[in-house]
Amino acid sequence: MKIAVLASGRGSNLQALIDEWLEGSLPVEFMGVGSDQIKAQALLRAEKVGIPTRAFPRENYPDKQAQEDDILNWLEELGVELLVLAGYMRILSPYFIRRAECLIVNIHPSLLPAFPGLNAQRQALEYGVKVSGCTVHFVDEGMDTGPIIMQEAVPVYEEDTVETLSQRILQVEHKIYPEAIRLIALGKVECQGRKVTIKRHS
Ligand code: GRF
Repeated sequence: MKIAVLASGRGSNLQALIDEWLEGSLPVEFMGVGSDQIKAQALLRAEKVGIPTRAFPRENYPDKQAQEDDILNWLEELGVELLVLAGYMRILSPYFIRRAECLIVNIHPSLLPAFPGLNAQRQALEYGVKVSGCTVHFVDEGMDTGPIIMQEAVPVYEEDTVETLSQRILQVEHKIYPEAIRLIALGKVECQGRKVTIKRHS
């Protein structure tokens, strides 16, 4: 399966995917990594292993649609079948979602539908939940509302800070994102309406 990744920052989830791919356990072809931030660490991680990169800096475009058109053309040129969002900090518009010819997945650091949007870990701490986690989901036109592919929980401790909780969740993100993408690439993930079925043993 031909994949591309969009990331705005650190790129640790991208790195988790690259590591599994280098080990031979992620059956995908990395067509490219894109970012809206020229200096994103994610771009350096890709370059280091020879994956083509492309920056789509906001200031280069008159408006959001022009930037999204450029990203859509890039995906089409590369023949991308699955777009992986990994800390991409710009919301994709309904226009983009409708025009994209590939599947789109995202990872979010909470157990959706709880705490969508920005600062999910802070939201969880402020709400006082005892369990949080992360969610891999297909992207639809809403904010973190698409069909859920995989989730994993982590405990929330009384002494947690945003940093300690984020770190605990991140460790699980690095495990389930490659696993979800592996299953999608193997054709084991089916989506009907909101319901995602994983055929692990067929
Ligand atoms: C992760 O917490 C992910 O859940 C969220 O953005 C963060 C990206 O981190 N969507 P990284 O850039 O992959 O390290």
